[in-house]
Amino acid sequence: MALRLGDLAPNFTADTTEGQLDFHEYLGDGWGILFSHPADYTPVCTTELGAVAKLKEEFAKRNTKVLALSVDGIESHKGWISDINETQNTSVNFPIIGDEDKKVSELYDMIHPNSNESFTVRSVFVIGNDKKIKLIITYPASTGRNFDELLRVIDSLQLTANYSVATPANWKQGEDVVVSPAIKTEDIPAKFPKGHKVIKPYLRMTPQPDL
Ligand code: BEZ
Repeated sequence: MALRLGDLAPNFTADTTEGQLDFHEYLGDGWGILFSHPADYTPVCTTELGAVAKLKEEFAKRNTKVLALSVDGIESHKGWISDINETQNTSVNFPIIGDEDKKVSELYDMIHPNSNESFTVRSVFVIGNDKKIKLIITYPASTGRNFDELLRVIDSLQLTANYSVATPANWKQGEDVVVSPAIKTEDIPAKFPKGHKVIKPYLRMTPQPDL
């Protein structure tokens, strides 16, 4: 059965470029991002893994561990990492699963046979600190991901997990947020003392509450 938002992220053990790991232990009590790429020594994937390595500190600030996967083996990954470091001017600093037996790819439904019979597509799973799946996005092999967007989404997920708010279209850190429809307008001042605007009875905005 396909995984859906709110499902417990299935646990697994896997061989990675940094040794064997247990997924849930690796996440600890923080957040995580698990993402697949189609194959080693391919151009778009090379730029993607370089981009993620450069953003590792940004993920760490959000208490989010990074874990990549492809169906190539560990030795292949290790050789390719040298190329990524050289060409992307970085140092890959997170584990990459060598999923040759496709155990994890199948568990997370990362192979879409009508797209490609054997390669993983560009799946992204964001896992919350309760080990539940908070976000699923799937891109085709031909489109490299925007990892700044993934940081933005994690900001939204973490904010909305802690406050009764939602984030509007194109929201970024520091911008006003939407008060959850579950909050009555008369209860807003007590919950959101920074102020609020009632644009419509169903559209109430307030400054980002955690700043
Ligand atoms: C790439 O990473 O460049 C790529 C991988 C598989 C198919 C197309 C592009």
